[in-house]
Amino acid sequence: MIPPFIGISESIEKIRELIEFCINVAATGLNVVITGESGVGKEVVAQNLYHRSSRKNKPFIKVNCAALPEGLLESELFGFERGAFTGAQRRKRGKFELAHKGVLLLDEISDMSLALQSKLLHVLQSGEFSPLGSEKEVKTDVWVLAATNQDLEQNVKKGLFREDLYYRLNIIQIYIPPLRNRPEDIPLLIDYYIEKYASKFSHKNLNKPSPEILGRLITYHWPGNVREIQNIIKRCMVIGNWEEIIDELSISKKPADYSTKAKPALDEASIIGDFIDFKGENSPNHASFSLKKVKKKVLDRIEKEVISHVLGQTGWNRTKAAKILKISYKTLLYKISDLNIEPPHYSR
Ligand SMILES: Nc1ncnc2c1ncn2[C@@H]1O[C@H](COP(=O)(O)OP(=O)(O)OP(=O)(O)O)[C@@H](O)[C@H]1O
Ligand SMILES: [Mg+2]
Repeated sequence: MIPPFIGISESIEKIRELIEFCINVAATGLNVVITGESGVGKEVVAQNLYHRSSRKNKPFIKVNCAALPEGLLESELFGFERGAFTGAQRRKRGKFELAHKGVLLLDEISDMSLALQSKLLHVLQSGEFSPLGSEKEVKTDVWVLAATNQDLEQNVKKGLFREDLYYRLNIIQIYIPPLRNRPEDIPLLIDYYIEKYASKFSHKNLNKPSPEILGRLITYHWPGNVREIQNIIKRCMVIGNWEEIIDELSISKKPADYSTKAKPALDEASIIGDFIDFKGENSPNHASFSLKKVKKKVLDRIEKEVISHVLGQTGWNRTKAAKILKISYKTLLYKISDLNIEPPHYSR
């Protein structure tokens, strides 16, 4: 079944046009990257592409590249021959083989290691791959769709994503904006999910939101996008009213206002005291002083302040914090340790 792709905003209309365009290229296998925050509907778009393409009667296979360690992901994608490694008692077919003539969705592609990225590039370029432990190349005709909630271009700049693979995959990019940037879609989604869940929770009843509540729902910033709408409607339906949950939303989840809430990272006194340890030509620090070093210290301090602040805002949820900061989870862990960022000590 084709999952409904609801929305009347200009951006959703544009995406519908892009989907139309893409299904015409499905046969040629031109790659598509679907990007956008978590919960915006990347998988919905991928499913729409598949179900409406000429490949719809062939397999649709999804692989979450973030869920498996590198070695397992490699054998999941490319399979292995019997005896390829200890424990490989029989041949296993990889997803590239299983998805032959169909669609392979590589979800969270930005989490793929650089080594696997180069193997993927080879398949995309040649249409062939060799399972682990095999000398032979296997031909495959797969429409590869990739999805990510990260900024791949930034990842390329940081050396986390291969540039050649980026250009190969990014022939067509479908960016789905967050819900807060297309508020006109919110009422439609709310209506749709009230109706959908009403049949599921048949013993429960939830009226449509009043204009006042709807106004609050439209101005809420929906960090979890459509998935969050679903959860909230389910919860409201169980309780039987909107008010309780809506009050909770507006109190605890106001858009984080980093510009006013964040402590200033630097003030004049700290600049002099902490960063400029040059006290004159005759001072002992003279030799070790340089503008480059000062710059690094200042940047480290700002990074530490910003990361600590975002971690505080997300209750130390590092996945969320990495998303807000638009850095990879691994980079965040590295920075937490490198900059000695410690979780707050709560008093009991
Ligand atoms: N435009 C839409 N119309 C109807 N339902 C939608 C729409 N967008 C998203 N949804 C629903 O919201 C939920 C989240 O969507 P989906 O799984 O496609 O998001 P995602 O972008 O892949 O998120 P993640 O990055 O977390 O994997 C799904 O249940 C999906 O059916
Ligand atoms: Mg998804």
